[in-house]
Amino acid sequence: MKICISADHGGFELKKIIIEHIKSLGLNVDDLNDTEYDPEDDYPDTTKLVAKSISKNEHDKGIVLCGSGVGASVVANKFKNVRAAICHDTYSASQGVEHDDMNIICLGGRIIGDALAKEIVEEFLKAEFQTEERFERRKDKITEIEDKNFNKDE
Ligand code: RB5
Repeated sequence: MKICISADHGGFELKKIIIEHIKSLGLNVDDLNDTEYDPEDDYPDTTKLVAKSISKNEHDKGIVLCGSGVGASVVANKFKNVRAAICHDTYSASQGVEHDDMNIICLGGRIIGDALAKEIVEEFLKAEFQTEERFERRKDKITEIEDKNFNKDE
C-alpha cells in the first residue's frame, strides 16, 4: 500500500508524529511537503499535493493535516476520485474506508492529541473497502455525481 501525507503549519507537529508512527508499523509514507515549518503556508497548497496524487492513483491512501482538518477536507474533495473526510474518532476512520472507500483522512493538528491521532491513523490504514453490493452501489452513485460535475482531472 502506498501512503502519502502533507500538512500546513497547523498540522506540522502532528504530521511528524504520525510519520514516525507509520514507520514504526513497518510501513512507508511519502511526505509530499517535507519542508521547514512555515507559519505563512496555506492549506490549499499543502493539501493539493496529496489530493492530486490520490486522484491520479499514484498513492492508495493519503493523510492531510491542517489546524482543524476542515480546510484540508474541503480542498481534498475538489479532486476527482478523492473521498476525503475529517475523522477525529477511530470508528469513523475505519468505517469511512469499509463503507465509503474513503481514501484521504483529514486531521486537525489543533483538535486531537497525539495518542488518539496515532490510533485513528492506524485504523484508517488497516481498514479495507468492503465490496458489499450496497457499498458498491453508493460508491457508483458518488462517481456518477463526480462525472457530471467535474470536467477536469484537477
Ligand atoms: C491555519 O492557521 C488554519 O486556518 C488552517 O490550518 C485550518 O485550520 C483550516 O481549516
